[in-house]
Amino acid sequence: MWKNLLATRPISPTGHVDAGEPVEGSLEGEVTFKRVLTAKHLVMLGLGAVIGAGIFVITGTAAANHAGPAIMLSFVVAGFACAMAALCYAEFAAMIPASGSAYSYTYATLGEALAWFVGWSLVLEYLFAASTVAVGWSGYTVSFLDSVGLHLPVALTQAPINFCTHEAAQAGTCEFGRFVLTGALFNLPAVLVVGAVGALCYIGITQSSTANAIIVTLKVAVILLLILFGAQYVNPENWVPFIPENQGGDRFGWAGMLRGASIVFFAYIGFDAVSTAAQEVKNPQRDMPIGILGSLVLCTLIYIGVSAVLTGLVPYSTLATAKPVVTAIENFPALGWLKVAVELAAIAGLTTVILVMLMGQPRIFYAMSKDGLLPRFFSAVHTRFRTPHKGTVLVALVAALMAALLPIQLLGDVVSMGTLVAFATVCLGVMVLRRTRPELHRPFRAPAVYLVGTLGVLACLGLVAIMPLFNWIVLLCWTLLGLCVYIGYGYRHSKLRQR
Ligand code: ALA
Repeated sequence: MWKNLLATRPISPTGHVDAGEPVEGSLEGEVTFKRVLTAKHLVMLGLGAVIGAGIFVITGTAAANHAGPAIMLSFVVAGFACAMAALCYAEFAAMIPASGSAYSYTYATLGEALAWFVGWSLVLEYLFAASTVAVGWSGYTVSFLDSVGLHLPVALTQAPINFCTHEAAQAGTCEFGRFVLTGALFNLPAVLVVGAVGALCYIGITQSSTANAIIVTLKVAVILLLILFGAQYVNPENWVPFIPENQGGDRFGWAGMLRGASIVFFAYIGFDAVSTAAQEVKNPQRDMPIGILGSLVLCTLIYIGVSAVLTGLVPYSTLATAKPVVTAIENFPALGWLKVAVELAAIAGLTTVILVMLMGQPRIFYAMSKDGLLPRFFSAVHTRFRTPHKGTVLVALVAALMAALLPIQLLGDVVSMGTLVAFATVCLGVMVLRRTRPELHRPFRAPAVYLVGTLGVLACLGLVAIMPLFNWIVLLCWTLLGLCVYIGYGYRHSKLRQR
């Protein structure tokens, strides 16, 4: 049994794919994906997936409650962990251009059981992140509509169930850890955005990536304006003390800065989603590393810039709001013209995160289904649109249901944990493969791989380690559920074993 669990999927020694070459299987008449994407599309997809709720929503509370102005440092720490992982992803993605991302890389290096575990963790990253961000999208949109005089009924803008958080318990409105009924019916805007984005993913990769590129251009332009004009009103006194004194636990000080890093890690999630499009790229050997590393570098610079401006404009303690960017610029009448642009950019930005997440998840399921670990339903490809249409519909339905009915935004940290586990495994896998298959052609080689890989594993697991206990319990329950599905289906249907 151990041999089965540790069995690895063979990597073809002819890993090279030329521009325009058909995807594996298409020559046998199988309907497969279209190779249409270029490096530019990939960088745009990366920016689309990454810049979203993390910077527009979460940064404010992380600065106000944990890191203070040192939130900039938190972004550097989280960015460092991502950079190590990104180098390892780039090596794999150029060598194994498969849509399964970390799942496929783990299957090729560390065996089926771990690959399943990573694939299952990626569901947290993609499916749960899509729902979480859809709820954030709904919040931003409802408040924007309110500000222009369009009021949606409250019953249609919230989930019917809420979870009593520490803050709500302290305010005396409920008992910590209990689920409470809100009186609302369901979150309609969240359902609508997931439905619309799911439909786009269904009809084609070209349409999806074009829509993504247009929206990303808008959101990046607004963010650059924010940095440029906001910088003129920065009061450097707001940055002092840079690391506020620790107030116990993870409130400020170095511990707070690190907790801030584990929270804002969410803002980086998504650069790896670029790798799920590997089978649709014209020249994956060259373009995958550019897409992964390029989008990460740009996002890191943007994040440090935005967090410097936010904490420089107003005292960090005032940023614990649902719309911290708007909160910061509202204090400066001269920046009033930016407010609507920022709100629209946030709404647009969150839309592309949902888009790339809803594109990525069915593609990972596709790879798992091709390996027999999930039912064949997930490997069906639409004859005309050439997308994994059935998986897309199912993923969109589940994402919409969760966003409509559950207090899913609570799972932000758990989404990060699932992602960090996947990143750590990829870093480990790349080192293992250098030893077990040194002869394989690697179009991109991570520099100083044993150092980069080890630092990547340590940094990612370090960020997981400082997550609160509640998140650990949720992650454990999720992993146990995954184990049941693997034993009940995947283990028995694995194609590797049948071979
Ligand atoms: N990085 C993505 C966001 O911040 C998930 O919304």
